[in-house]
Amino acid sequence: MMKKDFKRYTVTAALPYANGPLHIGHVAGAYLPADTYVRYLRLKGEDVAFVCGSDEHGVAITIGAKKEGVSPKAFVDKYHELMKKAFADFGISFDIYSRTSNKIHYDTAQDFFRKIDAQHLFLEETSDQYFDEQEGIFLADRYIAGTCPNCGHTNAYGDQCEKCGTSLSPKQLINPRSTVSGNTPVLKPTKHWYFPLDKFEGWLKDWLIEGHKSDWKTNVYGQCKSWIDQGLQPRSITRDLEWGIPVPREDGKGKVLYVWFDAPIGYISATKELKGADWEKYWKSDDTRLIHFIGKDNIVFHCIIFPSMLKAEGTFILPDNVPANEFLNLEGEKLSTSRNHAVWLHEYLVDFPGRRDELRYVLNSISPETKDADFTWKDYQQKVNSELVAILGNFVNRVMVLTWKYFEGKVPASHELPNTSDKRKRILDLYNLAHIDLNKSVAEMVKALEDFRFRDAQFHMMNLARVGNKFLADTEPWKLAKEDMEAVGCILNYALTVVGNISIACQPFLPDTARNIHAQLNMDASEVSKKFWKSQTLVEPVGAGHQLNPAALLFRNVEDTEIEVQVEKLRKVKAAKMEVSTTVIENPVKPLKEIVTIDDFGKLDIRVGTITAATKMEKSDKLLKLTVDSGLDTRTILSGIAKHYTPEEVIGKQVTFIANLAPRKMMGTESQGMILMAEDSDGKLRLLQPNEVVRPGSTVS
Ligand code: 2FM
Ligand code: ZN
Repeated sequence: MMKKDFKRYTVTAALPYANGPLHIGHVAGAYLPADTYVRYLRLKGEDVAFVCGSDEHGVAITIGAKKEGVSPKAFVDKYHELMKKAFADFGISFDIYSRTSNKIHYDTAQDFFRKIDAQHLFLEETSDQYFDEQEGIFLADRYIAGTCPNCGHTNAYGDQCEKCGTSLSPKQLINPRSTVSGNTPVLKPTKHWYFPLDKFEGWLKDWLIEGHKSDWKTNVYGQCKSWIDQGLQPRSITRDLEWGIPVPREDGKGKVLYVWFDAPIGYISATKELKGADWEKYWKSDDTRLIHFIGKDNIVFHCIIFPSMLKAEGTFILPDNVPANEFLNLEGEKLSTSRNHAVWLHEYLVDFPGRRDELRYVLNSISPETKDADFTWKDYQQKVNSELVAILGNFVNRVMVLTWKYFEGKVPASHELPNTSDKRKRILDLYNLAHIDLNKSVAEMVKALEDFRFRDAQFHMMNLARVGNKFLADTEPWKLAKEDMEAVGCILNYALTVVGNISIACQPFLPDTARNIHAQLNMDASEVSKKFWKSQTLVEPVGAGHQLNPAALLFRNVEDTEIEVQVEKLRKVKAAKMEVSTTVIENPVKPLKEIVTIDDFGKLDIRVGTITAATKMEKSDKLLKLTVDSGLDTRTILSGIAKHYTPEEVIGKQVTFIANLAPRKMMGTESQGMILMAEDSDGKLRLLQPNEVVRPGSTVS
C-alpha cells in the first residue's frame, strides 16, 4: 500500500483494567513501545495525541471488587490512582491518562451505540444464557470458566482462553462452572443486542487481509487472518450486569454495554477530554494516522471488532497499524497478578530509585516483538553492566574525563587535521570509517523506529557508543598527548560530537540519560535535536571553545546482592503459594454444613470452665477423662484429645464446652458435656480457650 502523507498521529495504548497494579509485562507489552514511538514522533516535530486511561468496567472489575469486599467504584478509584501514579513515576509520556467512568466517556459510548442503533444494524435476540441460581446472576465473560475447546486448558474464561488466546463465548466452554460460586450453571433466557460482525466479513477481507498484508506485523496479521478465515458471527455487545454503562434504549433497562464495546471508545473519549473542540481532527481526518499499541490478547478486539464498529458508525478513521507485542514471561514462567508472580512497576521504582532508564533499556532489548520473551534478573544485571555501563556509560565518561584532563573541559578545535604524518593519516582514515558507520547506524535506527522494531532501533542507537569506543581505542588519544596535542584535540572534538549525537539519538529510549548527557555537555538540545531527526544524519552538537560541565557517571553496575534480593522476593512468594496449594490439595477444608438460624445457635449453652483434674481413660488411646469446674458444678467430661495433649498439660487450663449437651455414656463413664476444639485440616486438635482467664461459668456467645 502507498504510504500516505499523514499530518498528525493518534496513538493509543491499551486501557489497562483498573483491577491491580501494573507489572513489567504490561510495560513491555504496550506502554514502553508506545512511549518510545511517541517520543520519536514528537522529536520529529509531529503533531501527536497519545491517549490512554483506565478500563473500569466489566467483570474483571466486579470480581476484583467482590474479592476485596468493596464497591466497584471504590475499587476502580483505588487502582486508577495507583496506575496513573506508576505510569507518571515511570515517565510514560501520555498526553492524557483518563478513565472510562468519566461522564464524557458514558456520553461518547452511548452516542456511539445510538448512532449504530439508528441504522438498525444491531440484532436483538432473546436466548438461553448460563445463569448461577445461587448468586442470581447471568454468567458472561470471567464470571464463567471451563475447559477451552481449542487447547484443553481447564481454566478458560467465557470470553477468552488466556492460555492459547482464543476468543470464546460461554457456550463453547466444556464443563462450564460459575467462577462466583463454583456451581454448575443452568440455562435461562435473556435479551441482548448483537453487533453483526458477520456482515463485515467481506469488508474485513478487503481492508485487513488484502489491505494490510504487507504493513502489519506477521504475528498480528496471522492471528487476524485465521480468525476471519474461521468465519465471523454476531457478537453480543450488552450484558446483564449492574456495573457498566447503561444501554441507551428504553427496552434496555437493567443492561449495560459490554466492556469491550465501551473500552476502545475510551480512546475517543480521552481525546475529546484532551483536545476539546479540536478532537475531531484526531479521529475523523483522513490525514490522521491512528495507531494502537496493545498486547497479543487484545489483537482481535483492536484489529477486527473495533474497526468494524468504527466502520459501522461511519464517521471515524480506522487504525493504520496495530503493532501488538507477544507476552513477556518472568524467570521462565508466565507473569501472573493473581499468583503475585510479577515485578511490580511501583515496587521497582522504590527498589531502584533514579534508575528508570535501566528498566526501559532491558525491557526494550528483550521486547517480545515477534515471540514471547523472558525477563530474568540475571539478564537484567548482565544487560545493565555489560551494555549500559560498559558501552554507553563508559564511552561518554571517557570522552568527558579526557576533555577535562587535556583541555580543562573546553571543546577543543575541530579544524581539519593536516595530513602530515603516518599517525595523522591513520587517524583521518579511522575518523572517516567511524563517520560512515555512525551515519549508517542512525539511518538504521530511524528505519527500525518507523517499522515499530524498537529493540533493533535501540541496538542501532547503542552502536553509536560502540563505534565511539572503537574510535577511541583505535586512535588512543592518551598516547598522542605527549607528542601531538592538535591531533588529540581533533579526536576529542569528534568524540564529543558522537557523545552529543548519542544524547539526541537516545531520547526515545533513555530519556533520563539523554537529559543527563545534555547537562554534562552543558548544551541546549532542542535545536540540534530538530536538525538531527529531520536530517537523520550526525549533527554538530557542541562547537569548539564550548565549556562543558564536570563529568559524572551515567550508570553504575547492578550488584549481585541487588539481584539476589529480587530473586528471593519471587522465590518467597512461590514457596508461600506452594505451601498453601499442597495443603489445600491434600487436606481440603471441610465443606460448609447446612445453614442454621440464630435460634438454633441460641439453644446451645456454651461456657468457659477450668480443668481441675485429668486422667487417661483406660483401654482408650483417644479419650481423656477431665474434671471441669463449670461455674455451675464440678462435672466429668470425656474428650477425644489424648493423642494431642497429656493429662498434665491440660490441668489448670481454661476451656470452652457445651454445658447443656445431653449426657452420654462412653466406655462405662458418663460424659456431661463436650469440650470445644479447633480441628486442623490435617486432623490436629487444639483446645479453644478464652484469650485471658475468665470466671468459670462465663457464657460464650
Ligand atoms: O486487556 C485489557 O487489559 C483491556 N482492559 C484492554 C482494553 S484496550 C481498549 F480497548 F480499551
Ligand atoms: Zn485455549
